[in-house]
Amino acid sequence: MRVLSGIQPSGRLHIGNYFGAMRQHLALQAENEAYYFMATYHALTTVKDPAELRALTLGVAMDYLALGLDPERTVLFRQQDVPETTELTWILSCVTPMGLLERATSYKDKVAAGLIPNHGLFAYPVLQAADILIYLSDIVPVGQDQKQHIEITRDIAQKFNNEYGEVFVIPDAYILEETAVVPGVDGRKMSKSYGNEIGMFEEGRALEKRVMGIVTDSAGVEDPKDPETSTPFLLLKLMTSPEETDEWSQRYRAGGMGYGEVKKRLLELLEETFSPFREKRRELERDPAYVEDVLSEGGRRARKVAHAVMHSVREAVGLPISYSPPA
Ligand code: ADP
Ligand code: TRP
Repeated sequence: MRVLSGIQPSGRLHIGNYFGAMRQHLALQAENEAYYFMATYHALTTVKDPAELRALTLGVAMDYLALGLDPERTVLFRQQDVPETTELTWILSCVTPMGLLERATSYKDKVAAGLIPNHGLFAYPVLQAADILIYLSDIVPVGQDQKQHIEITRDIAQKFNNEYGEVFVIPDAYILEETAVVPGVDGRKMSKSYGNEIGMFEEGRALEKRVMGIVTDSAGVEDPKDPETSTPFLLLKLMTSPEETDEWSQRYRAGGMGYGEVKKRLLELLEETFSPFREKRRELERDPAYVEDVLSEGGRRARKVAHAVMHSVREAVGLPISYSPPA
């Protein structure tokens, strides 16, 4: 199967990105042909400083490599290294009904959050469809918040295939129920844009302050508590064995347990889970040239696939290019 996913380099990555998406990306690379990329064109809708965009992009690549992405097997690349994606975006725009984009909740949410409603923000799902379709991807592993974007992609692919013949594969979203929505320290979905995230590479006092500051209700130590609505429990259970999860669940319901205790265990688990990755990330930071090499090679491999698919797309719509590309 061909697996593809992207992450915007629009801030530092958090444990919601890890459990909701990247852990699945890494798990799927063993048995599949995987393509993962930094969605740099998408990030341009929010990141306006060129130096920052470049640095964040390299940072996300380092995150992937530190977490165990194998660049020999898996294609890791920057979206702009395949400029055909923007060409496909235009062609797809011409089969995308306005109503489909007007119903997209992420656009409305972003405008409500204060972003300037420019055309890039509105057309964002068409660019995402191009990302997915240009590699004939079968599976797209993402968190719940991306479900609608994958549905839009399917609709656009179907519209194109109906009009021009079966060029595109209709992709499926791959969303794990247990990690579909990881909560942030304030109980809302963890997100860079809400400032409620726990950074994947946060450590020491900063991490401790973040975990101890997780918002809980005002129940006293003796009160029985509901684990399933409690952020520390929901985060802890991402990392505990089923037996330990059951134990904490019973302790919540029985009463006699304070939130401080759960948070301490959560902190330990975060340290255990992420400290090996931090070490690896520091090594990569000392060798940015290696990361650049991985990305150029990834871009080359991705573009080769996209190039062949674009040839079929141009033929299908009646826009073949009439000269050979310059060497
Ligand atoms: P953010 O909302 O922080 O900007 P992105 O939109 O860059 O995150 O998300 C990158 C990937 O991580 C996507 O597949 C997204 O669905 C997933 N993801 C982000 N936040 C969460 C979360 N809180 N829970 C589960 N998955 C998430
Ligand atoms: N929109 C996605 C997000 O914000 C990032 C993204 C861009 C993506 N293109 C993609 C995800 C293609 C999956 C497939 O998280």
